[in-house]
Amino acid sequence: MIKSVIDILDLSTEELEELIKTAQDIISNPDDYADACRRKKLATLFFEPSTRTRLSFEAAMYELGGNVISVSSADSSSAAKGESVADTVKTVSCYADIIALRHPKEGAATVAAHASKIPVINAGDGGHCHPTQTLADLLTIYREKGRFSDLTIGLCGDLKFGRTVHSLINALTRYNNVRFVLISPEELKVPSYVKRDVLKEKGYSYVQTTSLESYMPELDILYMTRVQRERFFNEEDYLRLKDSYILTPDKLTNAKKDLSILHPLPRVNEIAVSIDDDPRACYFKQVSNGKYMRMSLILKLLKEAGRI
Ligand code: NCD
Repeated sequence: MIKSVIDILDLSTEELEELIKTAQDIISNPDDYADACRRKKLATLFFEPSTRTRLSFEAAMYELGGNVISVSSADSSSAAKGESVADTVKTVSCYADIIALRHPKEGAATVAAHASKIPVINAGDGGHCHPTQTLADLLTIYREKGRFSDLTIGLCGDLKFGRTVHSLINALTRYNNVRFVLISPEELKVPSYVKRDVLKEKGYSYVQTTSLESYMPELDILYMTRVQRERFFNEEDYLRLKDSYILTPDKLTNAKKDLSILHPLPRVNEIAVSIDDDPRACYFKQVSNGKYMRMSLILKLLKEAGRI
């Protein structure tokens, strides 16, 4: 089977390091990459809303000199007529060289990768995982901190449905001495399969708490997330939980001076806009890092598939 990236663990630690190295080289020497994917096509198949991820994939492909074909909603494609993901992907394999797929169902990207003749990149499958957001997060952590080891990271908000959280935990449990502080309402805790199969299995220390304030002074990284409205079964629960955590400047009084505040975005209410000017706010840097990591990943997968 052609190499696809469905889960962040589909990439070895060495491959992650290589992707980061290439991304940094692209940042320093963009002209060297301007024709790297000439006449190649990326298909972005997005069956769930997206601003950053889809546009970032598309900008990445254009900056590599390639082209893009796109489905930007389920309603505008044959999915609305009942076509299966496998058939859609087999069809798109005839037109494009690589696919980025976002789908509301967990496991859809795995099905797609099995059906596809070209590499598939999971751009988010339901509440499961989102490996390319993790690539953006990792490059941001690397550029801010210069390391992935010896860090205390607070993950705050909707840790149950937040797929970026699940992928980031998976990625960071490959490094030494990473301590996880899992901050969420009771109902939105990290799923037990992530705690059991990832944190406990690999022997990582973590605390679960509902209080952001009490752990703030210990954090090197604070990863805020929005409450994932679209994955709730009823609106009342969402309304009750949506404003559980709102990061305002006063809450940062006891935070480290070199704290890095990350958020995969979109932000709803979780971070006050006044924090955007704080030098510790990294979430818009994360957006731009995401594009470079996607460029790096597209290059790698197209090379391995023998298409460039
Ligand atoms: C995230 C996602 O889609 O999971 N967004 C993104 O890709 N940057 C986070 C979110 O939607 O809350």
